[in-house]
Amino acid sequence: MARLKTVYVCQQCGVESPKWIGRCPSCKEWNSYAEQMIPGASKKSSREKLSRPVPELVSEISSANEERISTQSHEFNRVLGGGIVHGSVILIGGEPGIGKSTLALQVAMHSRAIRTLYISGEESSRQIKLRADRIGAGSDNCYILCETNLESIHAHIKNVNPGLIIIDSIQTLKSGNFESPAGSVSQIRECAAELLRYAKESSVPIMLIGHITKEGGLAGPKVLEHIVDVVLQFEGDHNYLYRVLRSSKNRYGSTSEIGLYEMQDDGLREVANPSEILVTRHQEDISGVAISAMVDGLRPFLIEIQSLVSSAAYGTPQRSSTGFDLRRLSMLLAVLEKRAGFRLASKDVFLNVAGGLKVTDPAADLAVISAILSSDTDLPVAQNTCFAGEVGLSGEIRPVSRLEQRITEAGKMGFQKIVISSFSKMEGLQKNHKIEILQAGKVEQLFRMLFNN
Ligand code: TYD
Ligand code: MG
Repeated sequence: MARLKTVYVCQQCGVESPKWIGRCPSCKEWNSYAEQMIPGASKKSSREKLSRPVPELVSEISSANEERISTQSHEFNRVLGGGIVHGSVILIGGEPGIGKSTLALQVAMHSRAIRTLYISGEESSRQIKLRADRIGAGSDNCYILCETNLESIHAHIKNVNPGLIIIDSIQTLKSGNFESPAGSVSQIRECAAELLRYAKESSVPIMLIGHITKEGGLAGPKVLEHIVDVVLQFEGDHNYLYRVLRSSKNRYGSTSEIGLYEMQDDGLREVANPSEILVTRHQEDISGVAISAMVDGLRPFLIEIQSLVSSAAYGTPQRSSTGFDLRRLSMLLAVLEKRAGFRLASKDVFLNVAGGLKVTDPAADLAVISAILSSDTDLPVAQNTCFAGEVGLSGEIRPVSRLEQRITEAGKMGFQKIVISSFSKMEGLQKNHKIEILQAGKVEQLFRMLFNN
């Protein structure tokens, strides 16, 4: 029996200390140290037994292992950079109920050619079966195991010999070597390290599902994010059906690709053409609506921005925004007030981005102010017009990145006019596109352009 040692571990960042400390010197969190038992000597000796690598010439290292397993989910492949790399460990984080288990099970069920082992510590096999039935016809090559003990999981992995392992979730795993409860920093760290070692030795990819904290970060030690190869975030608004999968770390591809899904009764449906659903064609012109040609990651799409400006019913005007940063909205309102002379200080301003998506692209500014001006004056913006431009503090409209892509997407969606910054380089731009490209340099100019006065 290995000798047990007591240490105090910060539950936020995983730093250890022999004594209890009130405030973590590393992450500066208060009251985050908890007592934990770790095995003393025996742990070290087992680590030392690992085979030692020898230096190899870069040209002689085989790259065969980097071949990817292409899953049936096109969006999932896209976010990973073309598919799952053999031996990679992928961490998927997201709020409870957002659809992480559904996404993972769907990848497993739809990949008929791969034998998958779905290990759940959160649900019973009956519950998983019910979910699998909702997702519909799928692979008969997918095994379900409800287990949380790491050693027993290892034994089952040996028996089943899967080509892909899914762990739902890493916080429920428990290694017998440690006294601390499942979900504690040392358990998460050790279980993840153990699984990582298995993935690298056997070249079997592992998908880990992780919980997130109240603040929105992945629960558990930061080291977890360091040791895995890919970190994916699954996000969306619970009141809406759209979900966005984005990667914040990817050792095998770009982190700027996003995947879009729609949660339906029979699982997650991939959204191949987001512009079609995020833009509503109205029967008649209505005020307070403007379309932004935005880019998320590398992906251009058009999205509807809605605004309502009305006289404040109470003393203090309200500013409310869904899907757009409230501070940025306040900044844009201040620019309209100070630089362009619009009296908005005594008005309530509400802003909404269609589909419950979050817009962080600064190019949405132009559509936001157009929607606000349109609602304030009660004059509709022409439905065939869309916008792509950032608004600066002095009221100038600034050029944005990936303009060509935005213009192409707008043209593809049947828009006839796009408003961009007059500081954007126009060389050959108009020639290549049928859509009429309008340029504005200042907010006042935009106002005149939109409403002809
Ligand atoms: P789930 O995958 O359990 O979320 P997580 O693992 O992130 O906690 O899915 C949660 C929600 O998705 C649940 O509230 C029900 C809904 N859902 C559907 O709308 N359609 C479906 O086909 C499935 C399987 C789930
Ligand atoms: Mg789940």
